[in-house]
Amino acid sequence: MTAKITLNANSAIAAIDERIYGSFIEHMGRAVYTGIYEPTHPTADANGFRQDVTDLIRPLKIPVIRYPGGNFVSGYRWEDGVGSSRPVRPDLAWQAIEPNQVGTNEFMDFLSQVGARPMFAVNLGTRGAQEAADLLEYCNFPSGTYLSDLRIAHGYPQPHNIKLWCLGNEMDGPWQICAKTAEEYGRLAHETAKMMRLLDPEIELVVCGSSFREMPTFGDWERTVLRHTYDDVDYLSLHTYYQNLTGDIPSFLASNVRMDSFIKEVRAICEEIKAEKGSEKDIYLSFDEWNVWYHFQKDGKQPPKWTVARPIEEEAYDFADALLVGSMLITLINNADFVKIACLAQLVNTLAPIMTEPNGKAWAQTTYYPFLYTSQRGRGRALKAELNAPTYNCKTGAEIPYIDCAAVLSNDELTLFMVNKNLDETLPCELSGLPCKTLIEWITLNGHPLYATNTANSAPVQPRTHNAPVTLGETISFTLPKASWNMIRFAMPIPG
Ligand code: AHR
Repeated sequence: MTAKITLNANSAIAAIDERIYGSFIEHMGRAVYTGIYEPTHPTADANGFRQDVTDLIRPLKIPVIRYPGGNFVSGYRWEDGVGSSRPVRPDLAWQAIEPNQVGTNEFMDFLSQVGARPMFAVNLGTRGAQEAADLLEYCNFPSGTYLSDLRIAHGYPQPHNIKLWCLGNEMDGPWQICAKTAEEYGRLAHETAKMMRLLDPEIELVVCGSSFREMPTFGDWERTVLRHTYDDVDYLSLHTYYQNLTGDIPSFLASNVRMDSFIKEVRAICEEIKAEKGSEKDIYLSFDEWNVWYHFQKDGKQPPKWTVARPIEEEAYDFADALLVGSMLITLINNADFVKIACLAQLVNTLAPIMTEPNGKAWAQTTYYPFLYTSQRGRGRALKAELNAPTYNCKTGAEIPYIDCAAVLSNDELTLFMVNKNLDETLPCELSGLPCKTLIEWITLNGHPLYATNTANSAPVQPRTHNAPVTLGETISFTLPKASWNMIRFAMPIPG
């Protein structure tokens, strides 16, 4: 069967908010120490940041990076990470030693190197509204107060102007340091938001949704928290990680369909609370943690506790993982009307597309590539792509289309992002509804064993140009390779 895709230039989902190509760096594992920061590395700059790593990050064009956690933030004292005295502390979240060599100001320096903006999280685990407001004063108040002058004394005369803030992290999770009930968290988030906005009315705030869809309190948590905070916040967070533990790749590749339902369920809850409150205001979604996560253990063992840069959760992503990451990005684009921020969790070493060897190489995992191209080219208007495609049944019984497709229209270009989940057969496609002038390029990831991975010394999973025929005309025809991620770019006729 041929898959039919119908587009209409007047039927846009929304303008894509570039912040859906955000990422995340937590003080966790080797994300910071021996990841982005390693002063003794041959490529380190004067601030200790590895330039081989920033060279891999920059092409990703990441607009925002979430920091400093994650679970880490719920026990973090931000004052430890500024000024000349840097206490060494036990990090209870990851049972590691935190040397506090990198903190707020160093991270802001790092962001300017990679061209990203900050998305900071405040600690609403062990701490509260006052410490959150203190951090905001330190970062954003111009001068003339104790904490803004302290920032200046630390060598940062200009305010950091951090505009995007997360009110804690996964506060419903029993693993979270000082987890809260929805009532407790809702009240605290409300009061914290109030203080932060009094100090800087221009900030945007993200309130915590459930840690993941399968939490027993999912739904009730969102409703209760939003009843307390609907008027105070701009975004509600979602987190999800998928995995392929049983080797059932067709079911694994269907995970983005669950992601899509999750988004739609949370969106419905936001709309329900909006109606209940009779509010004029919309709040949107921040999918601020998403990825594949297997809970890696080396040889079945966790690395020893209480070390600096404890090497936890260093996943080796395979080709199948790259296909799902490509599909999850398609799902985010197709929900561009409600998802305004999303963060691939994470960026370096911990659950990451970029890996480093201490004192050695930096290299790209398989999942780097779909993220790279989607972030570079997935900007513009997301069009509704009506799909009539063959389907398969995965073990859950769900009927899943073999293809995922997102269509992005910019001034003079149409870009299709497509995944063919059929592991055995190519898939002929016909695209209609938009006149395309020429094919600009077709980049694909295909032809690799599903479990193929890249390493520091060998990187078999690489994108390449696909030179298969594309027939242009009223209907555009092409055939997707089996088990493939694809980006197909067309030039559009110049209007008028
Ligand atoms: O990204 C890794 C961890 O996953 C984060 O610290 C936490 O928020 C989530 O559970």
